Amino acid sequence: MLLSKLAAAGAAFLPAALAQFVPAPTDLTSVLGGNYTVRYKEVPSDICETTPNVKSYSGYVDVAPGQHIFFWFFEARNVDPTTAPLTIWLDGGPGDPSMVGLFSNNGPCWVDYDGNLRYNQYSWNNVSNMIYIDQPAQVGLSYTGPVNGYVDPDTGFTVTVPGESCPDYAPADSCGTFSDGNSSLTANSTEAAAPNVWRTVQGFMGAFPHYASNGVHLSTLSYGGHYGPIFAAYFQAQNAANLPGTKHIDLRSLSITNGWFDPRIQYPAYYNFTVSPGNTYDYHPFNATTAAQLHNLYYGPGNCVAKLHDCNTRQTNQVCSDADDFCYAAESIFDTVTGRDEYDLRQLSPDPFPPTTFVAYLNTPRVQKAIAAYTNFSYASTNLGAGTTATAFGTTGDDARDLNTTATLRALLAQGVAVLQLHGDADYNCNWRGGEAVARALDAPGWTTGAGYENLSTADGAVHGVVKQAGAYSFARVYDAGHSVPFYKPLAALTMFARVIRGEDIATGERRAGAGYRSVGPGRSGYVNGNSTIQGDVTDPRCTYDVRTNVPDCPDGGAGG
Ligand SMILES: *[C@@H]1O[C@H](CO)[C@@H](O)[C@H](O)[C@H]1NC(C)=O
Ligand SMILES: *[C@@H]1O[C@H](CO)[C@@H](O)[C@H](O)[C@H]1NC(C)=O
Ligand SMILES: *[C@@H]1O[C@H](CO)[C@@H](O)[C@H](O)[C@H]1NC(C)=O
Ligand SMILES: *[C@@H]1O[C@H](CO)[C@@H](O)[C@H](O)[C@H]1NC(C)=O
Ligand SMILES: *[C@@H]1O[C@H](CO)[C@@H](O)[C@H](O)[C@H]1NC(C)=O
Ligand SMILES: *[C@@H]1O[C@H](CO)[C@@H](O)[C@H](O)[C@H]1NC(C)=O
Ligand SMILES: *[C@@H]1O[C@H](CO)[C@@H](O)[C@H](O)[C@H]1NC(C)=O
Ligand SMILES: *[C@@H]1O[C@H](CO)[C@@H](O)[C@H](O)[C@H]1NC(C)=O
Ligand SMILES: *[C@@H]1O[C@H](CO)[C@@H](O)[C@H](O)[C@H]1NC(C)=O
Ligand SMILES: *[C@@H]1O[C@H](CO)[C@@H](O)[C@H](O)[C@H]1NC(C)=O
Repeated sequence: MLLSKLAAAGAAFLPAALAQFVPAPTDLTSVLGGNYTVRYKEVPSDICETTPNVKSYSGYVDVAPGQHIFFWFFEARNVDPTTAPLTIWLDGGPGDPSMVGLFSNNGPCWVDYDGNLRYNQYSWNNVSNMIYIDQPAQVGLSYTGPVNGYVDPDTGFTVTVPGESCPDYAPADSCGTFSDGNSSLTANSTEAAAPNVWRTVQGFMGAFPHYASNGVHLSTLSYGGHYGPIFAAYFQAQNAANLPGTKHIDLRSLSITNGWFDPRIQYPAYYNFTVSPGNTYDYHPFNATTAAQLHNLYYGPGNCVAKLHDCNTRQTNQVCSDADDFCYAAESIFDTVTGRDEYDLRQLSPDPFPPTTFVAYLNTPRVQKAIAAYTNFSYASTNLGAGTTATAFGTTGDDARDLNTTATLRALLAQGVAVLQLHGDADYNCNWRGGEAVARALDAPGWTTGAGYENLSTADGAVHGVVKQAGAYSFARVYDAGHSVPFYKPLAALTMFARVIRGEDIATGERRAGAGYRSVGPGRSGYVNGNSTIQGDVTDPRCTYDVRTNVPDCPDGGAGG
């Protein structure tokens, strides 16, 4: 089947079997960055960052025996890159590659439905040097192994193939080169993942010291509510330890988009977002019976909240992973009953936004060669790598643990690290009701009683959300945005990001966010979006998302579907 397909494509004379696999790059520059080998190349200017004279580099930091962490770096576009700050972007999961954020949130480019490369004028490298890291090892293009095999469509796992050729029994287009899936070579918890991220940053800063001369910022998404605080605290602890041959990471801000911080607060918030007080889209997905069932699953004796309490007092893997399974089952009732996307309640599943067409782009021989790929790129749990990582995290119940995130964020603030927590208000998964409750628990000095919700000002004059800020801590609710806020609200996201890295107030960018700064406005955010953007049909994947009207823009002029 595969051979005939290749023949039909006029590739009969290629060594068809070999073409399915990724040849190891032979043209990398290898240097020592601190204690770690960094192997990289300059990415040609027709791949992703097409702005003239803005360089990009990608490659690997060899962080531990058999573990190779992929990074893709972009120089700042409109600031001298040798004096610009360095920002580290991390997606969540666990098991989500940061290439997702690069291509569908805030990187220099994206890939449209037809597979064409497109320019992102709201890329965060407009204001900062950016490094996107696929982590831990086995996620995205970070590899252990590698081995040749194919993805079994039934299990999503990779089957290693013997020899050099793709076997006839492998499903069409499923062969490729993947990580070996040795679970002891990936991380099984947030805390276990921190050292290799630090080593990657050490390697990069050692190899490219001129790109980190003006402070370092960490920006994370989703499971980044776990990663961000713990990794930042690890960087600070390593700075304090000041081991020989290490670089000081001058961490100045941590920004977290739709983060998963404290499961004890955010699991029951699924009830709050859907039932009481509900969301702001006039969307009431559950009848009284289902609402009561959910109330019981969260708050009933021995149920989710009680199990999470047990997990976070006893801290054992079994109790935590059982608690997570129980609470996750309650979370998923939303999916079954509504058929909607947990990451954007306005869309029915399958939701085409943000598009995933970049995956095919990354798996072309031209791009693989250009960015130094050793393996195929695979996305989330549909592959061996991320599947193994997610499974490994599952064994420790990391998802159900609060990891002391709110106290850690408070400590980071006290150390002078600015913290921006922002939530798109159409996301159910890490919804803003839960996010706001996390902010209250975090209790940054002056925040709960001293500050108010102020409109976010942006260059287009529209109001895309509100911010409540005290000193260097800010909480933002972004209107009409799903989980991946920069995709839905590119200008607002870039504006907030630029302000936090400059130490300005998030609402206006006109004031310094010093200790005494307070945003001004009401104590609660009362804006009601209404239900006009809620789609009644599954959106055609050929549609794009219109960031001005907040609804799909479809080629035939039709509605969402
Ligand atoms: C993996 O990469 C190879 C080489 O570019 C390609 O032929 C193959 O289709 C890719 N496989 C997958 C599953 O993406
Ligand atoms: C880096 O390598 C040096 C020399 O081998 C060693 O003394 C030092 O402890 C290493 N640092 C770290 C953080 O591994
Ligand atoms: C980002 O930078 C590019 C290249 O300089 C520029 O064309 C674009 O207008 C900038 N975007 C914004 C929102 O300022
Ligand atoms: C997995 O990796 C560990 C650590 O490198 C190694 O000791 C072990 O033999 C590997 N397991 C397999 C099945 O290759
Ligand atoms: C969530 O709902 C519970 C149960 O009704 C209630 O006790 C709690 O105050 C609500 N939390 C928020 C943040 O609204
Ligand atoms: C309530 O909603 C559930 C889930 O959609 C459905 O199965 C059930 O029949 C509904 N019950 C009533 C009384 O309408
Ligand atoms: C998690 O990984 C560590 C090594 O990093 C290992 O010691 C531990 O046993 C693992 N935990 C589980 C539950 O597998
Ligand atoms: C939580 O973090 C804070 C701030 O770093 C620290 O003081 C406290 O000891 C931590 N608590 C636990 C239980 O680890
Ligand atoms: C904030 O924006 C809203 C629109 O969302 C507008 O109605 C309101 O007047 C603005 N408030 C201030 C103080 O400008
Ligand atoms: C939208 O909300 C209005 C009330 O604000 C309601 O009358 C209408 O039925 C709702 N439409 C849908 C499709 O839910």
